[in-house]
Amino acid sequence: MNVENSAELRHRIEALKREKNAIILAHYYTTPEVQAVADFLGDSLALSVQAQQVEARIILFAGVHFMAETAKVLCPDKKVLIPCPEAGCSLAESCDANEFAAFKAKYPGYKVVSYVNTTVEVKALTDVCCTSSNALKVVESLPADQPLIFAPDRNLGSYIQKLTGRKNMVLWDGACHVHEEFSLEKILQLKREHPEAKVVVHPECRAYIVEVADYVGSTAGILDYCGRSDAREFIVVTEAGILAEMRKRYPEKTFIPAPPDDETCACNNCKYMKMVTLENICACLENEAPEIVLDEETRRAAERSIRNMIAIR
Ligand code: 13P
Ligand code: SF4
Repeated sequence: MNVENSAELRHRIEALKREKNAIILAHYYTTPEVQAVADFLGDSLALSVQAQQVEARIILFAGVHFMAETAKVLCPDKKVLIPCPEAGCSLAESCDANEFAAFKAKYPGYKVVSYVNTTVEVKALTDVCCTSSNALKVVESLPADQPLIFAPDRNLGSYIQKLTGRKNMVLWDGACHVHEEFSLEKILQLKREHPEAKVVVHPECRAYIVEVADYVGSTAGILDYCGRSDAREFIVVTEAGILAEMRKRYPEKTFIPAPPDDETCACNNCKYMKMVTLENICACLENEAPEIVLDEETRRAAERSIRNMIAIR
């Protein structure tokens, strides 16, 4: 897209937001031009919290499908729009609700903690949702002898299991296509080239990557750490969309994106988040569609597990 087109689209989106009483919530993994039209930019937890405080008539969710669904669960009376409904998530897709129900049935008496990266149907089968920001607190809020199912991210689950020392925790075998692809060898090579740099890692990464981290945390946690750390350089082992916000907040610091194993695949970019564009945002506001529509019984069951999550921050 050329610069004039992009400026024209931004202008049109701003006008539509005013005309239709709409606001845009965007995740840090969307492209910088999408982030630029957002009224609120955040990580998964902050976006869920923000969604329930929105007063506008329309929420347009510039992110992936499960995020827009979460906003609709929390705000059933609002019109929640998703500019690209095909923008899924490899974690949500790894956990089919029917298969998950059958898995859960094998563990009577277990409570279910699900990462928010799940479909609304899986959330309806969940006791407490969590995000990478509050997963540790959520698990610690449950009695130590309470057996748990943790779904769907095996990497986040095993990281929390290691931190808490919990033995009675079974993990669903899912993973994120972005965070699973980082190469340890290349991170260690970058560390040799930048010995003063701190390695910041998202807990969706594999355990052997997490082990070399100076800091492990959610998108918001990583952003805060880079601000308060005395270091000048950071090797960033998470989705590359976060770099725009890092460079905006801390222009005096250097952020080096960790490459994936296969550098030709650009897979440190979430292909789903990058499906959201200024064009589909504009069309979505114009048409007030596609819209998230949920079955009320499922929504209510999912709401309980999301509200349990929001209560633990
Ligand atoms: P957070 O926003 O919780 O860091 O999660 C990252 C992610 O992969 C979102 O889908
Ligand atoms: Fe899902 Fe991974 Fe994309 Fe996050 S980065 S939305 S977990 S596929």
